[in-house]
Amino acid sequence: MSHRRSKYLSVGLAGILCSTAIVGLTAAQAADGKNNLNLPGLRERPATQDNSFTRMFPDLPPYAPPTDEARTQAKKLGEKGGVIDALDILSDPIQSILNPGQFSPNNPDNPNMTAGVTFFGQFLDHDITLDPRSPLLEPSNPKKTTNFRTAAFDLDSVYGNGPQGSPELYDLSSGEIKLRVDSLPGAEAVSRNGAPRFDLPRDPNNTAILGDSRNDEHVILAQLHTAFLHFHNAVVDHLRKDPALATQSKEQIFKMAQRQARWHYQWIILHEFLPLTIGQARVADILNKGPKFYQVDEGPDGRRARRSKDPLLPIEFSVAAYRFGHSQIRPSYRLNFGPTGGSPFFAFLFDDTQDPNNPDPDDLRGGKRAPRRFVDWQTFFNFGDGNFRPNKRIDGKLSSVVMLLPGSRGPAPGLPSDGVQSLASRNLMRHVNFGIPSGQAIARKMGVPALTPAQLDMLKPFDMEKSTPLWFYIMKEAELMEDGLRLGPVGGRIVGEVFIGLLKADESSYLASQPRWKPVLPSATRGDFRITDLLTFAGVVPPLDAVVVPPTDAVPSSTDVAPSLVEADSSPTDVAPPLQ
Ligand code: HEM
Repeated sequence: MSHRRSKYLSVGLAGILCSTAIVGLTAAQAADGKNNLNLPGLRERPATQDNSFTRMFPDLPPYAPPTDEARTQAKKLGEKGGVIDALDILSDPIQSILNPGQFSPNNPDNPNMTAGVTFFGQFLDHDITLDPRSPLLEPSNPKKTTNFRTAAFDLDSVYGNGPQGSPELYDLSSGEIKLRVDSLPGAEAVSRNGAPRFDLPRDPNNTAILGDSRNDEHVILAQLHTAFLHFHNAVVDHLRKDPALATQSKEQIFKMAQRQARWHYQWIILHEFLPLTIGQARVADILNKGPKFYQVDEGPDGRRARRSKDPLLPIEFSVAAYRFGHSQIRPSYRLNFGPTGGSPFFAFLFDDTQDPNNPDPDDLRGGKRAPRRFVDWQTFFNFGDGNFRPNKRIDGKLSSVVMLLPGSRGPAPGLPSDGVQSLASRNLMRHVNFGIPSGQAIARKMGVPALTPAQLDMLKPFDMEKSTPLWFYIMKEAELMEDGLRLGPVGGRIVGEVFIGLLKADESSYLASQPRWKPVLPSATRGDFRITDLLTFAGVVPPLDAVVVPPTDAVPSSTDVAPSLVEADSSPTDVAPPLQ
């Protein structure tokens, strides 16, 4: 991390760390309409021009006027049972994930991505953007809205404010500076081969102690965060084994490990996640020709003077384009395979009918600790054993489970408690509040083909088929122009320019400081590093028994990316995974 970022952190980000000493947001506070996310640990932070949001298309008008009527229409478009609801049959979490053709006919499989890509994408979101304060029912000004995260892929959600600033995140007991990870008591009894499992550190109330409480929103993300904690610790051990580093202090080893962890993570973003999400051709174009629309160095006053500061994130990215991932969420998942000879644990991501005070509910909400609440990553990524499930295509539909987010009935980390339970409604209402331009206006500005009113005729009742909220537009664009496999020209360019812009603007990233750098940690392919390599190196993928490893040439690949996240065809014969 560059020194400029440390300074930034010291004035602000400590505010969202989940120290028990820090005053938490409560449901009562949420009732004032100002705080709509349940983020224990958030405290006041003065807004400055250096940590606000910006606009990517300041000259374009909002898609709709900032009126109550427009907000009501936006809310209606996103409601449960409405145009965006995939109307999944939510009778059996096993069928929902193993037989999506029948139980989620409006949520088709994406043969290019595995189910875990969604959560890697969400983890990235939580590394760069956090606006927990904007009211849902009032206009918001991007320049007066604070981003509580550093706009950099620096894992500040994991490292917090560093060992001095966030000591609650660190474990010094080994003599090295490691990140705290907890064992998951009782997990051996319900885990294949009795493998021990791990959890985020938690206080006696099960509130997770981590750099961004949203990463405890559901078990899959909490376990991915835990994997990153292990990853850093494994890099520390790896470096310490190197005789050439034997005399280095623990502080020096920490800094080196942090840099290696960040750089390998950034490699995955640039070489795996981004090509999958926007297509390799767009990645190459933006890398080679530079951004056309995202002025990463530009300050709120329009002057190009931000080199010494963190970049400002455009609201078109954080409120609209990068929320495309909401369309990839599946209704249910196979969290783990259960004990040897036992049953796997399948569950809906969220089920609002569950008792919020149940210590081990039958859904995957976060904030709970129980023996079965751990992930077997083989379902989520392609380890070559045929056990992964595909992702859902990006399209104009969202799984029904996110139409009724459970935060309003009881404590739920990272989930809103203000009564607007549809994720789609929330996204769309923010478009009105922030005055986001329409997808069509941005397409015209970019000089790319715009979707026609006929292609958006489902929006006619809302009078939005000619001037469409950007978030919905980019998802329909992905569906209609890219077959739902990846983002289209508008969504792909916004996401690509921001990702690459942030990586280049961060002086401490590998892309900015050593663009020819290649991964050095052990991996399946020397000089490359994939999410499966990260999880394997982190030691969080204990082997499953009875696995038939197919010959490597049977693992399909794509022209875009290496095989770890890719499957060529998920045909109906695919539905019964080898391990049941
Ligand atoms: C289980 C999955 C997910 C859930 C439950 C979820 C839930 C939420 C919620 C409740 C919000 C705040 C909504 C508001 O009040 O405006 C939000 C914001 C957001 N989400 Fe998601 N999300 C998920 C996955 C994803 C994924 C996969 C991505 C991207 C690939 C993503 C990107 C974003 C972004 C960029 C924001 C705005 C963050 C900010 O600036 O504060 N989310 N999400």
